[in-house]
Amino acid sequence: MLTYLPPGRETEGVLPGREKPEGSAMPTGEVQGREWFREAFGELYPLLYPHRDDESAAREVARLVELLGLEGSRARVLDLACGNGRHAVAFAAAGLRVFGFDLSPQLLQRARARRELTGRLVRADMRAVPSAAAFDLVVNLFTSFGYFPDEQNALALAEMAGALIPGGRLVIDHINRATVERDLVPEDHRYGPGLRITQKRRIVGNRVQKEIIVVWDDGRAKRLIEDVRLHTPEELSRLLLDAGFTDTRIYGSYGGEPFGTQSPRMIAIAKKPM
Ligand SMILES: C[S@@+](CC[C@H](N)C(=O)[O-])C[C@H]1O[C@@H](n2cnc3c(N)ncnc32)[C@H](O)[C@@H]1O
Repeated sequence: MLTYLPPGRETEGVLPGREKPEGSAMPTGEVQGREWFREAFGELYPLLYPHRDDESAAREVARLVELLGLEGSRARVLDLACGNGRHAVAFAAAGLRVFGFDLSPQLLQRARARRELTGRLVRADMRAVPSAAAFDLVVNLFTSFGYFPDEQNALALAEMAGALIPGGRLVIDHINRATVERDLVPEDHRYGPGLRITQKRRIVGNRVQKEIIVVWDDGRAKRLIEDVRLHTPEELSRLLLDAGFTDTRIYGSYGGEPFGTQSPRMIAIAKKPM
């Protein structure tokens, strides 16, 4: 059975800028009848991705702030799909006025435990961003894009554009399609205290799908799915252009290294025209 709320109804928290009217229901990006991202980013997420921590986020934000020339700035930043707030807190430490939006109640709860982010977190769906022309910079970091069918991914980009002021910039940190296709590990196993994690990966057309099975020693088990659209740099640049962005640059790292087929990440920086 398909269950979803119109994204506008899911919004809660203090909104910078104008609030949008409630969104209308939209079709879902789904695997086996469910929107996979509503389940994948819950309590287990920190266990599955322990390396995505505050220290790595602080390093990434420091490099990004330098690349964007935002040192000493009081720019308004939206971390869209902020997760537990690890990048948002680093933007705040750099003196920027940051807000974090995310869909996951569990990860937002972790973000809310960070004093620096008090009053700056909103539960929202990136397909219906509840702020218009409110930010100088929107960031969407660590593979938080490409979760939906193509037309909804395009909608998410249009919403990011809508959240920016004219002249504002967007940063997307996405996976590099070439490295995913070349280096895919079809299956691996990890062991933690009292549990085993099996991860199976496959490429289906232009998407990479991961099945994660966590089995606890007491017999409990949980299965999660991830299903992300892969983009070449040309495809992502085209999507950004179609969403109204200009001056798109694709880098291979947060520090602005050139992008190549060996780059671990694909960092797109684009501008909303004046
Ligand atoms: C891979 S995690 C990255 C989180 C964070 N940017 C980081 O680097 O730790 C993806 C994030 O996207 C959020 N997310 C998933 N679907 C979303 C949606 N439709 N709207 C807003 N956020 C969403 C998840 O809850 C999760 O926090």
